[in-house]
Amino acid sequence: MQVIDNIPALRQMRAQINGRLGVVPTMGALHAGHLSLVEAARAENDAVLVTIFVNPTQFAANEDLAAYPRDLPRDLDLLREVGVDIVFTPTPDLMYPPGYQTYIDVEQVSQGLEGARRPGHFRGVATVVAKLFNLTQPTVAYFGQKDAQQVAVIRQMVRDLNFPLEIAVCPTMREPDGLAMSSRNVYLNAEQRRAASVLYRALQNAGDIYAAGERDPEVLRRAIFDTLRTEPLAAPDYVSIADARTLQELTQPSDAPMLVSLTVGIGKTHLLDNFILPAELNDRVGLSRVLGG
Ligand code: PAJ
Repeated sequence: MQVIDNIPALRQMRAQINGRLGVVPTMGALHAGHLSLVEAARAENDAVLVTIFVNPTQFAANEDLAAYPRDLPRDLDLLREVGVDIVFTPTPDLMYPPGYQTYIDVEQVSQGLEGARRPGHFRGVATVVAKLFNLTQPTVAYFGQKDAQQVAVIRQMVRDLNFPLEIAVCPTMREPDGLAMSSRNVYLNAEQRRAASVLYRALQNAGDIYAAGERDPEVLRRAIFDTLRTEPLAAPDYVSIADARTLQELTQPSDAPMLVSLTVGIGKTHLLDNFILPAELNDRVGLSRVLGG
């Protein structure tokens, strides 16, 4: 496995790759969710490149950039075990040298949900992902459904700016109690960690009601809030029932696939999760059809 921290070496390595290159952008502090993307990339390509970069432009001034977990030696061990060919680990100065001034603003799809809660976040995500695409030139780039709006933003950018690559979307990996794996879960103390499973219970509750025939977004939204209220440590930021393709918030009953998403504060940590309804669309094929396609 080659670990590369400069652009000339990256370009040289890239030029030597024949066949399909799968690229997995990450911010490190890797867990089984990240590794599932790497495994998909490994299975579907001739070579796999992972990027590890805690991207400052997607953090607002009041957010956790400095505290964000970092453990490069451990990350590299994990990636070596999965069989990655190249790891690109740029520094902030390499990605944003003095005088840097170009940003990508994907308009509508960045505005609601996480975009409303975190102004400027998706501008930073789109910018760094565009740079990483230009640097690594993926055949396919892999992203997690856990960040469904991020996938929608990147899809839109790829379409609008004619990036010559495919986007693959992989299902959310969960802990045994249903909590979506996240690098930020390490911020939770034992009591908060126990409380955090309420997000998944709330999504499951909506899934059960949907499976029984309910299509009214108001009823689904209320059911989610009812579950969240059972957990005193959980302070919901938002609950959204949206058209899974457009991310437009639904106000009327609909048979089109729905994206149920929520962000919940537990202590100082904001946890996010989502689920597509009908539930059978949450596998690789369904996700690529709904979110990726
Ligand atoms: P990061 O949070 O490190 O996530 C890297 C990738 O792993 C993203 O595509 C994310 O959706 C996916 N992922 C995270 N948790 C997952 C889980 N439990 N199951 C499956 N996939 C999961 O997302 C980012 O970094 C950044 O915004 C980035 C795209 C790298 C741009 O800086």
